[in-house]
Amino acid sequence: MVVIDLREPAAQGATAHQDLPDLTTVEWTQAIDTWRGRVVNETVSSRVFAAMIPQALAAGASADTLQRLARAVGDELRHGRQCAAVVSALGGDAYAEIEALQPVPTHDDASSIEGLLRNIISISCLSETVAVALIGAERLRTGPASIETTLSQILADEVQHARLGWAVLDN
Ligand SMILES: [Fe+2]
Ligand SMILES: [Fe+2]
Repeated sequence: MVVIDLREPAAQGATAHQDLPDLTTVEWTQAIDTWRGRVVNETVSSRVFAAMIPQALAAGASADTLQRLARAVGDELRHGRQCAAVVSALGGDAYAEIEALQPVPTHDDASSIEGLLRNIISISCLSETVAVALIGAERLRTGPASIETTLSQILADEVQHARLGWAVLDN
């Protein structure tokens, strides 16, 4: 089991979200579940980029690619904290227990460059590009300014994560 406990940084970050509207009980429960799910997804995304660093080293990737992968690790961890702040502001606990995580594929049947490219295409080009579309759409529907700010900051990073993938394919 994996424990994600961001309650302490979440409480500090929650002060930025004093503009949240009053919600019905159902809306409130849904909002906490949604943002807690994001805490988990964002935080575990960090390990996917981290796993690509040794793959990229083995494949002889450029210094720029290595730096961008490392930056993405930090971005995803920060996104987890940003989403945790929203959970806390809503009155929820930024705490989750999840089943053991699936290992990131190492593609041992392929060459190091092909293995890296498979993960880059799946994670960076596809998942991150989809994330850009989803977060972009959600931002348009968002009411509170503080939530819009959070989504805008996350969106800007996700755009870079998608561009990282397409840039690797270009080279
Ligand atoms: Fe993210
Ligand atoms: Fe991302």
